[in-house]
Amino acid sequence: MGRYDLALIGFGGVNRALAELISQRGDRLAEELGFGLRVVAITDLRAGSLVDTDGIDLAPLLAAEPRELSFAGLVGGSADPRNEWVIREVPTDIVVEATFTNPVDGEPAVSHVRWALESGKHVCTTNKGPVALASRPLKRLAAERGVSFEFEGSVLSGTPILRTAERLFGGLEITGVQGVMNGTSNYVLGRLEEGVDLPVAIAEAQELGYAEADPTADIEGHDVQLKVMILANEVLGADLRREDVFCEGISSITPQDAQDAVRKGLRWKLVGSATRRKDGTVEARVAPLALPGHHPLAGISGPVNAVAFHTDLLGTVTVSGPGAGRIETAYALLSDTIAIHQRHDADDTAPTRLVLQETHRD
Ligand code: HSE
Repeated sequence: MGRYDLALIGFGGVNRALAELISQRGDRLAEELGFGLRVVAITDLRAGSLVDTDGIDLAPLLAAEPRELSFAGLVGGSADPRNEWVIREVPTDIVVEATFTNPVDGEPAVSHVRWALESGKHVCTTNKGPVALASRPLKRLAAERGVSFEFEGSVLSGTPILRTAERLFGGLEITGVQGVMNGTSNYVLGRLEEGVDLPVAIAEAQELGYAEADPTADIEGHDVQLKVMILANEVLGADLRREDVFCEGISSITPQDAQDAVRKGLRWKLVGSATRRKDGTVEARVAPLALPGHHPLAGISGPVNAVAFHTDLLGTVTVSGPGAGRIETAYALLSDTIAIHQRHDADDTAPTRLVLQETHRD
């Protein structure tokens, strides 16, 4: 059985959850999936870097309080994250990028992904920055190097929106997408309907782990703006920039507004949409909408997200599921490794390190 060696870039909630999955159920997954996963490098802005090419013992790292974790002083550890060195030089198969999303230029994650692809390593990321702002050049680079660039978790965490559109909608023309794509704002809107004030509802969403470190991006729609760009670009073949996507958040909606809407049979939702115009161009926007009860997105509540695909032959197909959460987002990374394995294991001509590993190490 083959094995993929991983470098985890960023050791916040999501990559820690992936490490938990590997540590706690790695053997079971290997048996089911036909390949193993081993972490050989971790970098983190706060904790530094840790490298062990024989495989890092994850249990003590996961037992430590995240804020107190430091790799300095450990064998193979350093207080310096040494991202470029780890990504380029440490022998790994897959670089798992889960640092913070920078909505302005996507850095430093864009560089992390580029360094990995340039080094002939596959990349999985949950980071919206590189996908929304630089996916074309990064996908080109991946194709040139014969490696994969996977990013299912950038939209709706582990709910397989992008792969559903890519793999299951063959022969359909997708004319537009509409989604509730931010768990925090959707949770908050639900609490406003129950009469809870905005700051209290936001604090609850942070406590539950849905919100970004700075919840402004969740509440003001900037998180959805990036997800709309990703969907428009991946599903509708657009090439949108942020300034192309109108964006309004939910901060002006009061508990009174939300409760009045419910009395009228309406639900306020933060809706991101992208629609193909008659001339072939794509219009995209993010704005709160008071949806009637029969709308496919009206019943999507709490941190649950959904995307409605408008198609020519099937009408509207709606996929719903978790849109946030540590484990749910870590699952997206696991699904990305499965996609990499399926693609490269089946392709005898691809330069897979899985085969190289078996040759050199087993
Ligand atoms: N903070 C986001 C949300 C999760 O609340 O949906 C990651 O995009």
